[in-house]
Amino acid sequence: MPSIPGYRLNDPALPPSPLSDQDLADLKASLLFGEDDVAALKQAEGVVADQVEAILDVWYGFVGGTPHLLRYFSDAATGEPIGAYLDAVRKRFGQWILDTCRAEYDGAWLAWQDEIGRRHHRIGKNKTDGVTAAAHIPMRHLLALVMPISITMRPFLAKKGASQAEGDKMHAAWTKAVLLQAILWSRPYAKEGDF
Ligand code: HEM
Repeated sequence: MPSIPGYRLNDPALPPSPLSDQDLADLKASLLFGEDDVAALKQAEGVVADQVEAILDVWYGFVGGTPHLLRYFSDAATGEPIGAYLDAVRKRFGQWILDTCRAEYDGAWLAWQDEIGRRHHRIGKNKTDGVTAAAHIPMRHLLALVMPISITMRPFLAKKGASQAEGDKMHAAWTKAVLLQAILWSRPYAKEGDF
C-alpha cells in the first residue's frame, strides 16, 4: 500500500463490500466492460502514469472554478476552501487514477470502493482528514462528475503517440471504469434494499 495518509486499498481492516463477485461481474456486463477494457486500461496506465499531476491540475481547476462544487472542500461555517483538505484528497486522487488503470477489481478493491462511497456521503465525509467541511456531497453531483472526469481525460490519452483508435478504446474503458465506481459509491445514498 503506498504511504498516502488515508489511503486504504488492500487494508484488511476495511469491512467487506456486500456485493458478491457475481454482482460485480453482472454490473460490468451491464456496462459492457470486458477484458478488452482491462487491457485498454492497462495501456492507459503507461500513458498517464507521468501525467497524473497535470490531470489533477485540470480537475482541481474545474472544481476550484465551480463554486457549487468547491463548497464541498470548504469550511461549512465560513465557506473558505480548506487547503490542507484539498491537498490531502489530491494525493489519494492521484493514486486513484493509477488504481483505476491497474483494473484489479477484486474483493479488496470493492471494499475500498465502499469506503470511498462513504467518504462522499455524510456517513463518512470529513472523517479521514478530520475537517469541518460541508458534511455531504449530493448524489446528483457525484454522478454528474463522471462526465468531466471522462471528457478531460481524452487529451492526456493522446499524448504518448497512441493511434486515434487506441485512444478511443482507452477512453471508452476509462469512462466505463469511472461510471462503475460512481455507481458503487452511490450505495450509501440508496435506501436499504434499493441499491
Ligand atoms: C465521478 C465522480 C467522482 C470521482 C471519480 C471522485 C473521486 C474521488 C476520489 C478518488 C477521492 C479520494 C478518496 C479517498 O481516497 O479518500 C474523492 C474524495 C472526495 N471527493 Fe470525489 N469524486 C467524484 C465526485 C465528487 C464530487 C461531485 C465532489 C464535490 C465537490 C467530490 C468531492 C470530494 C471530496 C470533498 C472528497 C474528500 C471526501 C472525504 O472527506 O474523505 N467528489 N473523490
